[in-house]
Amino acid sequence: MKIIETAFESSKVLTLMDANFEQINNYHTKEKIVILTDKTVFGLHKNKFEGYVVITIDGTEKNKTQKTIDEIINQLLEKDIDKSYMLVGVGGGVVTDMAGYVASIFKRGIKLGLVPTTILGMTDAAIGGKNGVNVGIYKNMVGTTYRAQFILYDFSFLQTLPKAEWVNGFAEIIKHACIKDVAMFEELIKNNIDFYYDNKIATAILIEKNVALKTAVIVCDEHETGERYELNFGHTFGHAIENLYKMPHGSAISIGMIMAAKISEEVNNFESDMVQKLILLLKQYQLPTFLEINKEQVFSLLKKDKKRAGDEINFVLLNTIGDAKVQKISFVQIADLLDQTL
Ligand SMILES: NC(=O)c1ccc[n+]([C@@H]2O[C@H](COP(=O)([O-])OP(=O)(O)OC[C@H]3O[C@@H](n4cnc5c(N)ncnc54)[C@H](O)[C@@H]3O)[C@@H](O)[C@H]2O)c1
Repeated sequence: MKIIETAFESSKVLTLMDANFEQINNYHTKEKIVILTDKTVFGLHKNKFEGYVVITIDGTEKNKTQKTIDEIINQLLEKDIDKSYMLVGVGGGVVTDMAGYVASIFKRGIKLGLVPTTILGMTDAAIGGKNGVNVGIYKNMVGTTYRAQFILYDFSFLQTLPKAEWVNGFAEIIKHACIKDVAMFEELIKNNIDFYYDNKIATAILIEKNVALKTAVIVCDEHETGERYELNFGHTFGHAIENLYKMPHGSAISIGMIMAAKISEEVNNFESDMVQKLILLLKQYQLPTFLEINKEQVFSLLKKDKKRAGDEINFVLLNTIGDAKVQKISFVQIADLLDQTL
């Protein structure tokens, strides 16, 4: 196990890379750990959870709501959990987001540990302290920022992860490459989803690089006043598409990245060859790159986006691959750009 300590203004987070699940006990007494996981992960990895207090939920996006949070809190109360316990979220982003939220509000905050079990969770959702639940069709509208004491990476969880979830997670990896790491972009071009699916060592190395990349961005901009915003590349349209068309997150972000890349071409001189290169790369990872959208519906959702500022929205554009910037664009201009680019 490799231990990486990251210091934030008021806390530190330990990244426990290439660890075994039971090493969570090094960081809190086993009897005082409550595991929050979903039924699928619990069913597939039952042996790992023996001897812990476990709460299982239906870990679907549909169920990522305040109602589920209340149900979890009721279970914690029934089990007499107090502030001496640590809540450890074990699962994909749905579970780790809900674990973070519950830990931050239960008894005004109990200790939190995270064990992400999907590619997306490992490279994105579990890192950074943001959590939340959906309100109706609006994604992650309610939540807090609350840091885990540790994020533990046990790659054996990936052995049971369905291929479709690998594809989903690679959308965020490609996003990281687009905004920050041209070398990673080139490396991804040389390979494809099957290569990583079959090559667990290469995957572990790639995940570690992505963890370092996202962590570095967050350390530089803890309060999301600048650089951290770039992590939203592809997410402005992506979130709207995900909600409206009930698409997997990765697929929606993939389409959102192409829309953002085309807008970058129009307003930021992003090279059209690079847009084509990105389309090919996303296809190599079995991600969709185009969707016929209903502009009015997408727009009404964009107006509820957390990145909105009055009649404008903070939009992430590419200067070139590996270099992004945030620019305010008016809704009127976005409407025009959509007409031109789609
Ligand atoms: N907090 C953040 O900064 C942040 C960032 C990105 C995404 N997110 C959130 O993350 C969520 C998406 O996360 P996700 O893509 O991990 O999806 P997910 O949590 O829905 O998991 C996908 C599916 O994989 C299953 N699964 C999880 N681990 C498994 C394993 N090891 N083996 C077999 N099956 C397994 C789950 O049961 C689920 O059915 C969204 O709700 C999104 O809003 C949060």
